[in-house]
Amino acid sequence: MDGIGTLVTNDPTVGEGPLGLLRDAALVLREGKVAWAGPSSRVPEGAAHRRVDVAGRSVLPGFVDSHAHLVFGGDRAADFEARMTGRPYSAGGIRTTIAATRGATDDDLAANMGRLVAEALRSGTTTIECKSGYGQTVDHESRSLAVAGRFTAETTLLAAHVTPPEFAGRTDDYVDLVLSRMIPECASSAKWIDVFCEEGAFDRDQSKAVLEAGMAAGLTPRVHGNQLTYGDGVRLAVELGAASVDHVTYTTDADIEALAGGTTVATVLPGADFSTRNRYPEARRMIDAGVTVALAADCNPGTSYTTSIPWCIAVAVRDMHMSPDEAVWAATAGGAAALRRNDIGRLAVGSRADAIVLDAPSHIHLAYRPGVQLVSQVWRDGRPAYR
Ligand code: NIG
Ligand code: FE
Repeated sequence: MDGIGTLVTNDPTVGEGPLGLLRDAALVLREGKVAWAGPSSRVPEGAAHRRVDVAGRSVLPGFVDSHAHLVFGGDRAADFEARMTGRPYSAGGIRTTIAATRGATDDDLAANMGRLVAEALRSGTTTIECKSGYGQTVDHESRSLAVAGRFTAETTLLAAHVTPPEFAGRTDDYVDLVLSRMIPECASSAKWIDVFCEEGAFDRDQSKAVLEAGMAAGLTPRVHGNQLTYGDGVRLAVELGAASVDHVTYTTDADIEALAGGTTVATVLPGADFSTRNRYPEARRMIDAGVTVALAADCNPGTSYTTSIPWCIAVAVRDMHMSPDEAVWAATAGGAAALRRNDIGRLAVGSRADAIVLDAPSHIHLAYRPGVQLVSQVWRDGRPAYR
């Protein structure tokens, strides 16, 4: 790829600042990987047999969306409408989607997820995580993971999303089912174990039991925490060495201190806060305190029915006071950190050749031009996936 206006490599050793920014750059892709990145004037002789001129446009690593719920039936447009006229969000709405998901065929679920993954790709997402959590029986969670696994290797068992209707008032019994059957039967089709640690969902002890059982079965923990109010999610995630704690909308000084001292990434999901008229996370304070912050879309039918990382970047910059550089880093290298991956989220030699071309001279335009389709090409594994 040649004639690049600005290239975000996320490799500070080859370019300017944490984004490793290069101007008038070229990128050599070979066998699905980045073979060389540097100034156009210095492309090694004979480095490539096919040249793609992107004429002054901006090239970035593909977005790494580390948080999504894409296996579901139906939608919750009626919930959204009611919320916009004053009714508050409640985690109980998840049960509407559980009923629709249980009633859908495997083919329906796969078609819906395929549509969303394709939509995400068109806005630049080249890696997407996907959780179960709308099935909530052994069989429905297991088939949800099977569907997710058709589209991504980043699959997450979120059996402990909310207590399903048949266990109403018996959350501990449901947790027992998660521990005794769901984790053992689903662990081989998931990479991650997640829990919704929140008032109205699972408390600290229940969440800890689920995460530890998942870890004992070989899964790595990640947590939904501190979305609707202050609580134990952040500190529990840090204590267990979770890869990420997501939402982090209500954080205390102690939470931010714990994150800064630990290895857990804080993933902000502004789409959920936007669509539930919630406050936004204190991303600025977290970054200033030294916390690693990732940015993800949280696509789901209840709180954040968007796949657009460019739009999330715009909100992160406008409303969470992240700089355009920080928001772009959080949606690429940050997402990779939240998934403990070092092969994606950057365009450094040896990285996977997942790249996007913007119809704009720099990555700043992602936040500067909200709602505009600037992604004009998407490359995955060194091949055009959308253009
Ligand atoms: O990430 N917080 C919990 N889970 C989802 C919402 C799921 C739903 O409302 O359907 C989230 O926001
Ligand atoms: Fe979520």
